Amino acid sequence: MDQQRARITKDGIRIYEDADFAGMRLAGRIAAEILDDVAPLVQVGVTTAALDDFITAEIKRHGVTSATIGYKGYKHASCISVNHVVCHGIPGSKVLVDGDILNIDVTVIVDGWFGDTSRMYVAGALPRKAERLIEVTHESLMRGIAAVKPGNTFGDIGFAIQSYVEANRMSVVRDFCGHGLGRVFHAPPNVLHYGRAGSGPVLEEGMFFTIEPMVNLGRPETKVLADDWTAVTRDKSLSAQFEHSVGVTATGCEIFTASPAGKFHPTWR
Ligand code: MF3
Ligand code: CO
Ligand code: CO
Repeated sequence: MDQQRARITKDGIRIYEDADFAGMRLAGRIAAEILDDVAPLVQVGVTTAALDDFITAEIKRHGVTSATIGYKGYKHASCISVNHVVCHGIPGSKVLVDGDILNIDVTVIVDGWFGDTSRMYVAGALPRKAERLIEVTHESLMRGIAAVKPGNTFGDIGFAIQSYVEANRMSVVRDFCGHGLGRVFHAPPNVLHYGRAGSGPVLEEGMFFTIEPMVNLGRPETKVLADDWTAVTRDKSLSAQFEHSVGVTATGCEIFTASPAGKFHPTWR
């Protein structure tokens, strides 16, 4: 049983084996491909439910499983978070209008491995302020990823993200974080997107986790709506998020959810 043999650090973080990278690589690639393939459908006039229906069909076509359908009572294959929705937006009857920005978050299970990724899209023309927000959020994730290598700490990741975001006069959401994953969806540690350099658990080769900063144009505070899922900015300012699943290697990290079509970066189109 791999659970019994697995090494767990004193912080409760599982150390995966070299062979486990192949499982995460496939799960991550399929999740990223689905986000690539939904991109042309994100148009003015489309509902978020229609985007989720497409994602559900793609998951089926790939012969894999949605990690979110049935998770804590959630009923959809994606979270779709539009404008001031920070995360966990529920797909529904909302019709996209010109200038809406949205995050689509998909997690699939492939041969027992979890691939979790999200990125930003726009319906119609991208407003200037939203473009800056999306660019800064993407860059903050990439700076967090650049801090991933054995010997660095989780605090180094949070510091890289927070210092960059705040230098651009935007704010990092504190109420949600990244997470360990692998054979499970959410595992230790909590991957904070803010923090002090050198603080937190030390990174080791074989750790698998997500980094998924949420960045607001206004203040960082959020609240969850009466549906118990949808998290919004309290001040109604715009929010953006990007998420990758990564694995720590001997010299840095491998991004499991890199876009096969090169569409992850917001300027691909
Ligand atoms: N994919 C989300 C994450 O990044 C979790 C979504 S859980 C759901 O951790 F139930 F809201 F779908
Ligand atoms: Co995640
Ligand atoms: Co996710």
